[in-house]
Amino acid sequence: MKVLGLSGSMRKEGNTAQLIKVILGQCKEAGIKTEFVSLAGKKIHPCLGCLKCKEKKWCVIEGDDWGGIAQKVLDCEVLVIGSPTYYYDVCGQLKNFIDRTYSLYHDHKLAGRKGIAVAVNASAGAERTVKTIEGFLSAHEFASLGAVTGTGTDEGDVMNDAKAVAHAKKTGDKIVRLLLPNHD
Ligand SMILES: Cc1cc2nc3c(=O)[nH]c(=O)nc-3n(C[C@H](O)[C@H](O)[C@H](O)COP(=O)(O)O)c2cc1C
Repeated sequence: MKVLGLSGSMRKEGNTAQLIKVILGQCKEAGIKTEFVSLAGKKIHPCLGCLKCKEKKWCVIEGDDWGGIAQKVLDCEVLVIGSPTYYYDVCGQLKNFIDRTYSLYHDHKLAGRKGIAVAVNASAGAERTVKTIEGFLSAHEFASLGAVTGTGTDEGDVMNDAKAVAHAKKTGDKIVRLLLPNHD
């Protein structure tokens, strides 16, 4: 698939998911293939720090959901990756996912893709959440297409953040111009 949306929130249809889906919606409307994956309910074991991935070039932990989702990231052209803000940073589930991608780092396996960071907070901290996600993207040599932040507490609140929704739509349009330069 061309554009992959990945939400780290444990709320499958939470604010992060909804904001990511606004971006994906613009792409879909233009005929671009998209996929949305939520880490909610997925088993993502934390990185063991064993460094065996330096040799294996893949994470040695087996029996959880990391590998299937990592493969989708490898297969995408544009990654829209988002997290709710937990204590001024990404949530643990997304951090576990990110840490395990160290196994893809040694051979620069993710280099050359484009990335967009998405973060939602109730009142403060989304900037640092974005910084952490952008750190992941830049370490893997993604080219950044920007970041979208939104505000909301209960599921769906972010859709009332008109500025965030507008920015998400604009960001989706940016992806369309990148992937379909002749699209009007
Ligand atoms: C454990 C936890 C920590 C949180 N920490 C923050 C925080 O530091 N700053 C903030 O503004 N909101 C914080 N929130 C609120 C969430 O960021 C907010 O509800 C967000 O919309 C959740 O997104 P989601 O629906 O995608 O999970 C926290 C929520 C939880 C459950």
